[in-house]
Amino acid sequence: MALRLRRLLVTGGAGFIGSAFVRQRLTADPEIQIIVLDKLTYAGSEENLAEVAGDPRLRFVQGDIADAKAVDALAAEVDAIVNFAAESHVDRSLLDAGAFVQTDVYGTYVLLEAARKFRHQRFMQVSTDEVYGEVKDGRSREDDPLRPRSPYAASKAGAEMLVGAYHVSYGLPILVTRGSNTYGPYQFPEKIIPLFITNALQDLALPIYGNGAAVRDYLYVDDHAAGIARVLWKGEPGQAYNLGTGSEVSGVQVADTVLELCGKPKSLKHYVKDRPGHDYRYALDTRRVLPLGWRPGVEFRRGMELTVAWFRTHQAWWQRRKSPEFWDYYRRNYHGLPANAVPQ
Ligand code: NAD
Ligand code: TYD
Repeated sequence: MALRLRRLLVTGGAGFIGSAFVRQRLTADPEIQIIVLDKLTYAGSEENLAEVAGDPRLRFVQGDIADAKAVDALAAEVDAIVNFAAESHVDRSLLDAGAFVQTDVYGTYVLLEAARKFRHQRFMQVSTDEVYGEVKDGRSREDDPLRPRSPYAASKAGAEMLVGAYHVSYGLPILVTRGSNTYGPYQFPEKIIPLFITNALQDLALPIYGNGAAVRDYLYVDDHAAGIARVLWKGEPGQAYNLGTGSEVSGVQVADTVLELCGKPKSLKHYVKDRPGHDYRYALDTRRVLPLGWRPGVEFRRGMELTVAWFRTHQAWWQRRKSPEFWDYYRRNYHGLPANAVPQ
């Protein structure tokens, strides 16, 4: 029987990657119906869906994935859940892990129960390469053990354990994607790329942790969203799929690229106290997903040009996010900042 997924509940669909997924699906699939359930934390905003706001195929509901009543009311109307909702920033998890356990673990449990109850055709858990922990050599494969090292990564790994258990215990047709570090338009300016771009545009220091040698595999947001869709429709239930580009870019390289593209001096680079438990490398083996017909289309340099161009033309969007509350978080998180690190 062909898989018919017409109606999706997209949790966290007002966040960075979730909103890109929603925009992309509405453009690509005339038959799709999407309900977005989003709590609208500091990281989420209906503004992120403004480009598709009038679309009759999209409904937005503000609510918490940990609220079983709210979830059940919506889960009754769909064929599948795509779970993007999460607390997503490692540094914030190091300051306060409670919300991560509540949303990323408990919230996922609530969604799984709803998927079971309403006999959904698919449950897609959007996970991360950080569940593998630091990768000293080689590349992580999907069957490798999960060795998360930050409270964020541990919460995402905990969620994955539940998702896997619901497949084994109840036969729920789950899928998991483990995407690498993602960047692009609409990313909240706390993760390295949007933080460095917006700081550079404000002539503020770019805070590089430690010696800046830690590497990440940066994946452009539209490629990540397309990979999730590909796995949702073509993946084998019960499986996890890595989504990455295979490239390795250091913190210093991110800073240099941002400064070059923004036309700002190298003197804005500033080395600060390292992140506790900093994972120095993630690297993915993506051979499992390739036969599904997905591969990333935007390489790092091009993706950075597109991203810098977007932030240049959306100043009001990111300036609203660099609020007094944001700078409070910033001061708590960064140690050893120079005078030109925060707006005067
Ligand atoms: P984000 O922080 O931009 O968005 C998260 C969204 O979830 C926000 O809109 C927020 O309001 C919403 N949310 C938070 N708690 C909620 C709750 N209890 N109920 C309902 N909504 C809630 O995050 P993102 O970068 O778009 O990440 C989306 C997903 O992708 C996350 O699950 C994350 O773990 C995963 N992921 C992210 C990356 C990355 O580099 N950003 C990489 C791999 C995987
Ligand atoms: P980040 O964007 O927070 O993603 P994650 O830790 O989830 O991979 O960090 C990416 C890399 O950039 C990581 O090696 C830490 C480094 N980094 C900095 O050097 N300075 C910063 O201000 C931030 C946020 C990150």
